[in-house]
Amino acid sequence: MTAAVEVPEGLREQAELGPNWAAWLERLPALTTDLLADWQLSVDGEPMHGFCALVIPVRTPAGRACVLKVHLPDEESEHEHLALQRWHGNGTVQLLRADPHRFAMLLERLHEDDLEDLWDVEACEIVAGLYSRIHVPALPQLRTLTSYVDRWTTALAGLPRSAPVPRRLVEQAVSLGRDFVADPASVGTMIHTDLHYENVLAGDREPWLVIDPKPVSGDPHYEPAPMLWNRWDEIVDSGNVREGVRRRFHTLIDAAGLDEDRARDWVVVRMVHNALWAVEDAERAGRGLDADERDWITQCIAVAKAVQD
Ligand SMILES: Nc1ncnc2c1ncn2[C@@H]1O[C@H](COP(=O)(O)OP(=O)(O)O)[C@@H](O)[C@H]1O
Ligand SMILES: [Mg+2]
Repeated sequence: MTAAVEVPEGLREQAELGPNWAAWLERLPALTTDLLADWQLSVDGEPMHGFCALVIPVRTPAGRACVLKVHLPDEESEHEHLALQRWHGNGTVQLLRADPHRFAMLLERLHEDDLEDLWDVEACEIVAGLYSRIHVPALPQLRTLTSYVDRWTTALAGLPRSAPVPRRLVEQAVSLGRDFVADPASVGTMIHTDLHYENVLAGDREPWLVIDPKPVSGDPHYEPAPMLWNRWDEIVDSGNVREGVRRRFHTLIDAAGLDEDRARDWVVVRMVHNALWAVEDAERAGRGLDADERDWITQCIAVAKAVQD
């Protein structure tokens, strides 16, 4: 018999994010208990979580150390199992079993260490090396990057002039976004889209393995931005934001052999989209931007400017 699973406080708090979150969190203990029973897994450690998934260390009946990952049902993670299945553990965590209807996966257990504690430039080199492993021809089931960028570009074109984002940058991102949508090279490669320091864990088979893809059929040049905006305090503390961002950017593109202009244009587009979503979140909540959102928008603008001259 498996004991009831306790959902960590940090994940339970996400119930504030809306009724679909609250409903899923309500179901989660029973859902997890069912999965443990159905897959004959025993709990083997404290539950972990990220933003939208519960991750429980478990063992199979044969004693293999794995984790059970149960994700909030959403579009972004719908194809996570397909990507992991396609990669077959080549540069990524191995998928052992999946139940797409319950957004559940049994994964090879990796170590706790991620790329947070490495020198950021070294982490960028490691991640650049992983790009070439995961950037394979896209599976036909995946949504296209351009279908999203088309939608976000339209939203961006309607951003109120009062939004605290320089107009020139908004116009640049709209124009670049339209060019990318029209460009056949913007689709066709399976990309991760959320590949940052915490989504690479130490392994036994290989030193570092990728976890947590939000796969789409896209362009490898879309990938670097999260390596620039994460671990931001260090960039600020270094006293030279422009240099700190550019060092990471050039390390990534040089080590991965990406085209500099194309990678830079995607960084600009992604950072302005991030700013747009902060404005939209506040609008949806019927309030002005809070301090965190203002700081985040300022950071997005700083990254977009730093990669340009
Ligand atoms: N295969 C794994 N082995 C060990 N720990 C894992 C594994 N997958 C995820 N984790 C842990 O759970 C956390 C959340 O998992 P992740 O897949 O990144 O989900 P989220 O989408 O919520 O970020 C990770 O940051 C990591 O600490
Ligand atoms: Mg994660």
